[in-house]
Amino acid sequence: MPRDARPRRYLMCPPAHFRVTYSINPWMDPAKPVELPLALAQWEDLRDRYRALGHTVELLTPRPDLPDMVFAANGATVVDGRVLGARFAYPERAAEAHEHLEWFRDHDYTEIHAPSHINEGEGDFAVTSSYLLAGRGFRSSPLSHDEAQEFFGRPVIGLDLVDPRYYHLDTALSVLDDEADEIMYYPDAFSPGSRAVLARLFPDALIAGPEDAAALGLNAVSDGRHVLLPQAAVGLYEPLRDRGYDPIGIDLGELLKGGGSVKCCTQELRP
Ligand code: ARG
Repeated sequence: MPRDARPRRYLMCPPAHFRVTYSINPWMDPAKPVELPLALAQWEDLRDRYRALGHTVELLTPRPDLPDMVFAANGATVVDGRVLGARFAYPERAAEAHEHLEWFRDHDYTEIHAPSHINEGEGDFAVTSSYLLAGRGFRSSPLSHDEAQEFFGRPVIGLDLVDPRYYHLDTALSVLDDEADEIMYYPDAFSPGSRAVLARLFPDALIAGPEDAAALGLNAVSDGRHVLLPQAAVGLYEPLRDRGYDPIGIDLGELLKGGGSVKCCTQELRP
């Protein structure tokens, strides 16, 4: 049975100034050149796919001194129209937080909280109807979890990330159906205790294998029916189809050199 898509609103930032000149995650190698026109074309394809599926895409203006700004998911978390700003772990990205806050102020959001503790937005927060799943271990501080719980009034489930390649929650776990609490994840990215928590809360989750995880296949965006995911994560297509989803492979090979893919480029603005 095909599933129902819900129209979404996304915030994205074109990779006009994308480059890899520093390394803050194992995917980033400043010795590997980035082909900027190709990065732009790949990103535009993702943006156009969202629009073709009927979703709204809002745009953030890229800043020349912030090459990672294309990874817009990290700049804030928006739930129930409330905006929890980000606070980045590395100085290279720190100024992105302000750009996001300004965007929300300019777009008539009134419930905006500039955080006290380090959190990298939707990089480490994933939203289901029951929970706010929250990663920690590499970027976001465990203290940001209480801050998010208080601000959103939603129960936060803290999850410990243990593999540096999967440094953000959204590199290891993806929400497929945010109304029915259906997720997919790569267990080995989590501590044994966190794995047990996930198995308890999501006994029917789609479990990804190491190859698909290494293709950053968990860095996916679902509208409830269409699942846009890194093209090379071929092992996920069939299990997604079996569950009634339409997997759509996206080639963001150039952005992968920065350690991000579909989800990293997409912040969801939840009304
Ligand atoms: N180069 C960026 C960083 O290391 C990539 C961020 C990817 N974003 C994500 N949501 N995982 O911060």
